[in-house]
This record gives sequence, C-alpha cells and structure tokens, in this order.
Amino acid sequence: MGKAQGLFISLEGIDGSGKSTQARRLAEALRADGRDPVLTREPGGAPGAEDIRRLLVEGDPDRWSPETEILLFTAARRDHLERTIRPALARGQDVITDRFADSTRVYQGATRGDLRGLVDQIHDDAIGVEPDLTLILDMDPDVALARGLARQSGEDRFEDFGLPFQQKLRAGFQALAEEYADRCVLIDANADPDSVATRIVDIVRARLS
Ligand code: TYD
Repeated sequence: MGKAQGLFISLEGIDGSGKSTQARRLAEALRADGRDPVLTREPGGAPGAEDIRRLLVEGDPDRWSPETEILLFTAARRDHLERTIRPALARGQDVITDRFADSTRVYQGATRGDLRGLVDQIHDDAIGVEPDLTLILDMDPDVALARGLARQSGEDRFEDFGLPFQQKLRAGFQALAEEYADRCVLIDANADPDSVATRIVDIVRARLS
C-alpha cells in the first residue's frame, strides 16, 4: 500500500490579514506534532512560479488587465502544483499554502467586473484541484490595509488599488466561504494573533485526527 496523501490546506484573506504569520505558526504547530508540513505560497512556491510572481506583484496597478492576470496567476499555479504541491502530497507531507485558487476567484473574479466564469473555466482546465481545507482570515480592511502598506515590501501592487478594493475583497471572501462551506472555514482575524493561531491549529488537528 502507498503512503497516505498529506492534507492540502490553504490560507486566504485580504492583504495584510496575517495569513503569512498564521501559515508559519500552523507549520510550526504541525512540526511539534511530529508531522513534516511543506509551507509554501502563491503566487510562487516553485522557482518558475516565483519568476512569474515578480511580474504580478510589482509595478503599476494598471500594468495588467484582470484577464491577463488570470492567465499569469494560473500559469504560476500550474507550476506550483506540478513542482511543489503534488509531489509533497504524494510523499505524505501536508501542504500549507499562503493563497491558492480562491484568491483568483476573488481578486480577479469579483473585484473589477464579473470575471468569475472565466476564472472557473481556466481553473477547471488547467488546475482542477481544490484544497482539502481552506481557512479564510476575515479582517476589517482598515486595519489590514494599514498593516499591509506599513510593510513597504515593493510588492504592493494590489494594496495600491486602495480601501474600496479591499472592501470588495472582504465581501468576496465571505461569499466564497458560504459557496464552498464544505471545505472553507471563516476565521475572525480581528482577534489577537495568538487566539487566531490557536483556533486554526484546533481546526486542523480536528481534521487530521
Ligand atoms: P501575497 O504574497 O499573499 O501578499 P500579501 O502577503 O500582501 O497578502 O499575494 C500577493 C498579491 O497577489 C496579493 O495582493 C494578492 C494577489 N493575488 C491575486 O490577485 N490573485 C491570486 O490568484 C493570488 C494567488 C494572489
């Protein structure tokens, strides 16, 4: 018998919602449990996908149309899936990814016109998988935007769309949590980071046991 597949977990949320910190803390908690998770991110998570990332997160907000973005994010995701996610799951490792296809559904599909049909079509043809569990960090965009911009990472292209954009994103993620209620859990991320981390680890441990 082959080794059991690992659990595929994604973290989602608006810019500055604390996903990256929470993804890292979840990986640490699973390691402490004796598991061997792979912590990864999108756009990126494989060398080619990281090259595509730079095209997407740097530069002018109007650099790409939403349609072109869908294709670029999906190209990066395909590389991430082939090179990092599938091999890790097949080895029995859990995968924790900071963003996956739900980000495209919301950022490209539901903010600058209704492109959800195109997003779904391309996703079905080129990706075709969903995480086993998606944790959506729900946070007030005022708080999150202040945190995101404060980082001044040079990767602020989406933050530069401004507050109304972030509000649309929040509503989009909330709607997605209802649409995919079987795999998505909406987490109140306005709470302090320690209690958010505890909540997330409890949910994941319950799924693993
Ligand atoms: P990320 O590195 O998660 O940024 P942050 O840590 O600030 O949340 O993602 C980079 C940006 O790319 C982010 O603004 C969200 C955006 N994005 C999309 O628009 N579509 C996508 O499919 C993905 C994966 C990310």
